[in-house]
Amino acid sequence: MSVSVDAATCTSTPSGIAAPLPVLGRDVTVPLVTGGEVTYAALDYAASAPALQRVWDDVAAYAPYYGSVHRGAGYLSQLSTDLFENSRVAVAEFLDCREGDQVVFTRSTTDSLNLLADALPADCQVFVFETEHHASLLPWRDARVTYLNAPRTPDEAVATLECALADRDPHGPALVCVTGASNVTGELWPVRELAAAAHAHGARIVLDAAQLAPHHPVSVQELDVDWVAFSGHKLYAPFGSGVLAGRSDWLTEAEPYLAGGGASRKVARRADGGVDVEWHTTAARHEAGSPNVIGVYSIASACKALTEAGFDSLVAREQYLIRKVREGLAAVPEVKVLSLFGDDAPRVGVISFVVEGWNSSHFAAALSAEYGIGVRDGLFCAHPLVRTLLGSDPQTQGECGAPEAAPGEKSLNAIRVSFGAGTPDEHVERFVSAVTELVKDGAKWNYRTEEGRCVPAV
Ligand SMILES: Cc1ncc(COP(=O)(O)O)c(C=O)c1O
Repeated sequence: MSVSVDAATCTSTPSGIAAPLPVLGRDVTVPLVTGGEVTYAALDYAASAPALQRVWDDVAAYAPYYGSVHRGAGYLSQLSTDLFENSRVAVAEFLDCREGDQVVFTRSTTDSLNLLADALPADCQVFVFETEHHASLLPWRDARVTYLNAPRTPDEAVATLECALADRDPHGPALVCVTGASNVTGELWPVRELAAAAHAHGARIVLDAAQLAPHHPVSVQELDVDWVAFSGHKLYAPFGSGVLAGRSDWLTEAEPYLAGGGASRKVARRADGGVDVEWHTTAARHEAGSPNVIGVYSIASACKALTEAGFDSLVAREQYLIRKVREGLAAVPEVKVLSLFGDDAPRVGVISFVVEGWNSSHFAAALSAEYGIGVRDGLFCAHPLVRTLLGSDPQTQGECGAPEAAPGEKSLNAIRVSFGAGTPDEHVERFVSAVTELVKDGAKWNYRTEEGRCVPAV
């Protein structure tokens, strides 16, 4: 028997591109409204990535030994405390922290940035691009915040920041908050250059690495950033922990983020009836309450797993998948990919787009119900950025089934596909075929609006 192989239909991974890392859920099947079942294509990594098998195995191996951290005299408490503190060391190594940097465990990136916002010195000025995720845009409530307009190139980002910093009061403290990779466009921001600009003007910088750390190595020293924040659940460790790592001075001088046990070293009644508290000066100062040792250990496990897999090969594989998706979408004229910095900008596997004549929620619902593909639709907690990219006012919601924008008009929401270290070729290939087919033939099922979302009309 002879088999002919045609380059156009050949879908095997080229040599030199590594296989995906094993993740949980890779064999899960989901029902289709049109009948039958398919394996679920998880293409919403930017929201939450599946757990790495290695992380799950490490957590499962530790679980029988679970015990209280920093509290118990028993063997398992001692073991858990060691595991917790060693996880700090593993994260510091993963981020290539400086000597003396602190690694504080939090619940998430949002929590980390709120912690830092709480620790700002008095009269601190904050500079943040309007293009940021709301977690970076909104926590700076009590500070004087300067919102910087969306730049259209990385150079313009640096120039915009330089310009804003040049106007600031040079004597007071200042903080710049910037994302490493956009959760909307996947584009990389010029972090090193922004850090240099911040420092040249006596400001500090915090890197929101929620979307960067799962895809690229992050070196605090090489980027010369003062703090880094990221979430475990986007780094294949979905057990409820996050990280804020970086300089200790502002953190040690600030009031504890939460007051309570674990953050306090000594508490005593005063003669006047009040209470005197001596707070820890280490990371524990901001970790009051019983720590989430499983969450923290899972992050350390993910850091080790990604480092051992090697970011060179992870990046090569992801870039190969990005090319597949972008080329596939480019072949559908009705699809418009959203971009701030242009087609040639370096990016991670996060791609947002709109489809002419389609309501984005309807399109995403059809991808799920008819193809078993999980993506996200909406404004991705980055309303000002998506508004800028769409050139529309997303206050109003389109009705499901009807395009939210007439042909030639602006869309109000977008669709986001995102992937990473665990994504097999087949998932992005199915996605590209599904987009092509939906645009060409339309949905096979009827959909209705339920609480603002499109769902199959059963
Ligand atoms: C760039 C960016 N920053 C911050 C966050 C907030 O992360 P979390 O929800 O884990 O706090 C996200 C979440 O999507 C994000 O994409």
